[in-house]
Amino acid sequence: MKLVFLGPPGAGKGTQAKLIAKQRSWAHISTGDMLRAAVKAGTPLGLQAKTIMDRGELIPDDLMCAVVADRLGAADCGQGFILDGFPRTRVQADRLDETLAKLKMTLDRCVYFHIDTEVLVARMTGRLTCRSCGANFHVTAIPPKVAGICDACGGELFQRDDDREETVRNRLQVYQRSTAELIDFYAGKGNLLRVDADGQVEEVAARLAAGLGDS
Ligand code: AP5
Repeated sequence: MKLVFLGPPGAGKGTQAKLIAKQRSWAHISTGDMLRAAVKAGTPLGLQAKTIMDRGELIPDDLMCAVVADRLGAADCGQGFILDGFPRTRVQADRLDETLAKLKMTLDRCVYFHIDTEVLVARMTGRLTCRSCGANFHVTAIPPKVAGICDACGGELFQRDDDREETVRNRLQVYQRSTAELIDFYAGKGNLLRVDADGQVEEVAARLAAGLGDS
């Protein structure tokens, strides 16, 4: 299946994408993860992205669309993919349609994770991310077995610079201003799947799987 995961920051898109992509052997394309990898590697994209991400603003559309178009052309996307965090603007959504048409691909569903704002703030300000493998934990909801250490690879856990409360609130405003209109955009195309993102990770995963069916 070819999917877009849409929803406010902290809704659990990345957590659910990692789980289902692994189960079904789909490519997980997280633009946030790609940007953080570029920042870590000190590439020109990373150098440009760092200050924008730290403020909770969006990377320019042209840059983001080029990165995603390049990634979608890779062989592993043929089996199915999840675009996690892209598109985030109407321009990105239109460019995505153009890219998919060129690749002779069709988007099956846009999954919209909806959840209350205050839950989002608590999720993001409590998030812990592994420096080595990118796995996510939460200080209270999904704590690691050993404080500060990743269960999956033993890497060091840290708080993302953009997960401080002030930046989190700005990211939520940016989402409302630039991204929320895509819910209607995909609903208008008839392929929007709404998933209630509140509750335990396993409950959300079960709702998602039921909504997508067995394909
Ligand atoms: P990105 O990394 O995409 O951030 P985001 O969309 O803001 O999403 P998050 O990663 O914060 O949340 P999520 O929904 O994936 O939740 P998660 O599963 O991690 O983007 C970062 C920045 O990059 C942007 O601000 C922008 O600057 C730039 N960028 C990226 N894409 C761009 C684009 N297309 N255009 C322009 N700029 C772009 O979960 C959150 C926390 O909650 C974790 O701690 C997790 O463990 C916990 N959790 C998850 N599920 C549950 C649950 N069910 N119960 C309890 N806790 C849970």
